[in-house]
Amino acid sequence: MSGFWNAYIWLLTLGTLGGCLWLLQAMTTKRKQPGPVEDTTGHSWDGDLEEFNNPLPRWWLTLFWITGIFMIVYLVIYPGLGNFAGVMGWNQVSQYEAERAAAEERYGDVFAAFAARPVAELATDPDALRVGRNLFLNNCAGCHGSDGGGARGYPNLTDGAWLYGGSPETIVQTITYGRNGVMPALGAALGEGGIDEVIAYLRALPRLQAAAPAGTASTAQTLTAPETAGQQKFQTFCIACHGMDAHGNQALGAPNLTDNDWLHGRTDADIRSVILDGRANHMPAHEELLTPDRIHVLAAYVLSLAAEGGS
Ligand code: HEC
Ligand code: HEC
Repeated sequence: MSGFWNAYIWLLTLGTLGGCLWLLQAMTTKRKQPGPVEDTTGHSWDGDLEEFNNPLPRWWLTLFWITGIFMIVYLVIYPGLGNFAGVMGWNQVSQYEAERAAAEERYGDVFAAFAARPVAELATDPDALRVGRNLFLNNCAGCHGSDGGGARGYPNLTDGAWLYGGSPETIVQTITYGRNGVMPALGAALGEGGIDEVIAYLRALPRLQAAAPAGTASTAQTLTAPETAGQQKFQTFCIACHGMDAHGNQALGAPNLTDNDWLHGRTDADIRSVILDGRANHMPAHEELLTPDRIHVLAAYVLSLAAEGGS
């Protein structure tokens, strides 16, 4: 804190304290100018209602003095006056660190025991999942939802459809180092009509898949003219990331576009907006927030969510 703000806070705090105590002292003594009738304030209401000019009751006054004294003692002991740290040297950061260290000591062994077992095994262990659920609620639910169901832009972790992959190692990797999914803005390259054609092609994909599973006869005949134009544009602009068959690429986090599971919304307008403007989606790294042992347990919890919801 700079010298100015330090002085400002000293002045403000001690000024307020002094002011309060002065007011208290002033109110204790009787007024010097009595009203027309002895010992009243001189005010009268409704003709005959008057107010006696008496000091505050002593017990009440004593309470006020005690609060004043408490405040002085408090300001001496605890940090309340600018840069002055208080004679005890207490502060919330050191208290937090001490509590954290104590918790680490208490729970460290629990996590170490979990860490010694494989993630896939923990994913069916009720004790590990209880711990994992707490970690999830505290660290992940804000984005992925308390049930892991996700929201627009935040992937559903329970549906068994993965952007980056659902193996234990991949999930640990995702949580530890975070992810950046980048879908480039391709509106300019495709043009207005081009976007419509590509969307028409994307809409045809589930139908094509059902009609002609991979490796069977050409699907060209089953496409309408705009869909065919869209397919050509898709092959030019999109297959590098989403793949020839639009099944996505987990190395890039490029989603499967054939499964009717839409991270950024399912309407034509939603899909158009993604293609037009692109998306830069960010899952934060947790390597500095959580110990590797905790991430291990969390990965097991995420795995269990997918096993439950994906079936
Ligand atoms: C600030 C929001 C945010 C928080 C907090 C967050 N995530 Fe994420 N997470 C995301 C986003 C956004 C993505 C998608 C990234 C992308 O599209 O490239 C994601 C992706 C993931 C994925 C990859 C899903 C897939 O389909 O491959 C996993 C697994 C995951 N998060 C787990 C977690 C866990 C566990 C936590 C808690 C430790 C967590 N996330 C905390 C936003 C968040
Ligand atoms: C450089 C790689 C790259 C290219 C090229 C690319 N995409 Fe993407 N696309 C991605 C990634 C990565 C995401 C996921 C973004 C995220 O994590 O939120 C994505 C997301 C999308 C989505 C949203 C999916 C959903 O579930 O909501 C659509 C739709 C899409 N792309 C269509 C296209 C189309 C159409 C093209 C070609 C015109 C294209 N992409 C080209 C990488 C790419």
